[in-house]
Amino acid sequence: MPLSSATAAVSFQQVSKRYRSAGAELQALDGVSFDIEPGEFFGLLGPNGAGKTTLISILAGLAHASSGRVTVLGADVASDYATARRRLGVVPQELVFDPFFTVREALRFQSGYFGIRGNEGWIDELLAGLGLADKANANMRQLSGGMKRRVLVAQALVHRPPVIVLDEPTAGVDVELRQTLWQFISGLNRQGSTVLLTTHYLEEAEALCGRIAMLKDGRVLALERTSVLLKRASSAKVLRFKTDQALPPALAAQARVTGRVVQLPVPDAAALERTLAELRLAGLQIDDLEISQADLEDVFLELMRAGVAS
Ligand SMILES: Nc1ncnc2c1ncn2[C@@H]1O[C@H](COP(=O)(O)OP(=O)(O)O)[C@@H](O)[C@H]1O
Ligand SMILES: [Mg+2]
Repeated sequence: MPLSSATAAVSFQQVSKRYRSAGAELQALDGVSFDIEPGEFFGLLGPNGAGKTTLISILAGLAHASSGRVTVLGADVASDYATARRRLGVVPQELVFDPFFTVREALRFQSGYFGIRGNEGWIDELLAGLGLADKANANMRQLSGGMKRRVLVAQALVHRPPVIVLDEPTAGVDVELRQTLWQFISGLNRQGSTVLLTTHYLEEAEALCGRIAMLKDGRVLALERTSVLLKRASSAKVLRFKTDQALPPALAAQARVTGRVVQLPVPDAAALERTLAELRLAGLQIDDLEISQADLEDVFLELMRAGVAS
C-alpha cells in the first residue's frame, strides 16, 4: 500500500441515507462510493429523487449520513465539520436569502461568517464576473429569481473555496445567466478549483464535465469519463426523423420525442433494418430521415431504462 495516495478533493465512501417519514423508511442513498480528484469538473446526473441533493447535503454537513464517510480534501464532514465546510462553496438548489440585506451586504456578511475581513476586492470581482455589478446596492427582495441565483453563487464563492458545489444551478434560469455562470465557473476551474455540478441539462454536463456519475434510486449506475460514456451506449447511433403521426407502440417505448422530432436507438445494422421495416409497416409519413451519433441524453435514457448497475 502506498504511504499516501493523492488526497481526493471529495471522497464518498459507502454513503447511505435512510429517511423515516410517516412510519415508512426510504433509502435515499444506498452505498454511494466515488472520488472526485482535485481540479476535476465533475457532473452528478440523475432523475428527480435520485438522491443528488441528499448527497450534496451530506457533503455540505446539512444532513448526516446513516452510514459511510465523506471527506473534503481529507477533512471528514462529520468529525471535522469546520475544516470541511471552509473548503466548500455550496450553491443550494433552493433559493434561500435574507430579504433585508443588499447584495453587497449579503456578501460582506458571508465573508464575516468565514472570518474574512477586507474582502471588497474579491467581492467586486464576483459581482463583475457574475453580472451583478449594477445590483450591488439593490435589496435582495427586489431581485428577480435569476439575479438571486447569481447572488447565491457569489455567496458560495466569497471565501475562495477550493471545491465548488452547484446543485442544479441553472434549473429554470435564462440562457444569459447560464452563459455568465459557466464562463465564470469554468474560469475558476481552469485556475484549479474543483467543481461538482448536478444538473438536469445533459448538454450542459456534456459540454462542461470531464467525468460524470449517473445516480438512480440512490445508487451509482455509471461513472465514466464523459467521452467514454458517450461512446459506451450500445445505441451509439440513433435514427432521427420528423413525423406528425403517432409511433407504433413497440417503437414508442424506446423513442425519445422532442416535438415533431423522433429519435430511436439503432445499435446495429439489423436493428436499423428492423426499425425501418416497422416504420414502413405502420405507414408513417416521415421527413428528414438521418442517422446520427447518440448524445449524452440517449446514453442517460438507456441507462435509466436498463436501471441496473454496471
Ligand atoms: N428530508 C427528507 N425527508 C424524507 N425524504 C426525503 C427528504 N429529502 C429527500 N427525501 C427523499 O429522498 C429521495 C432523494 O431526494 P433528493 O436527494 O432530493 O433527490 P434529487 O436531488 O436527485 O432530486 C427522494 O425520494 C426524496 O423524496
Ligand atoms: Mg435535487
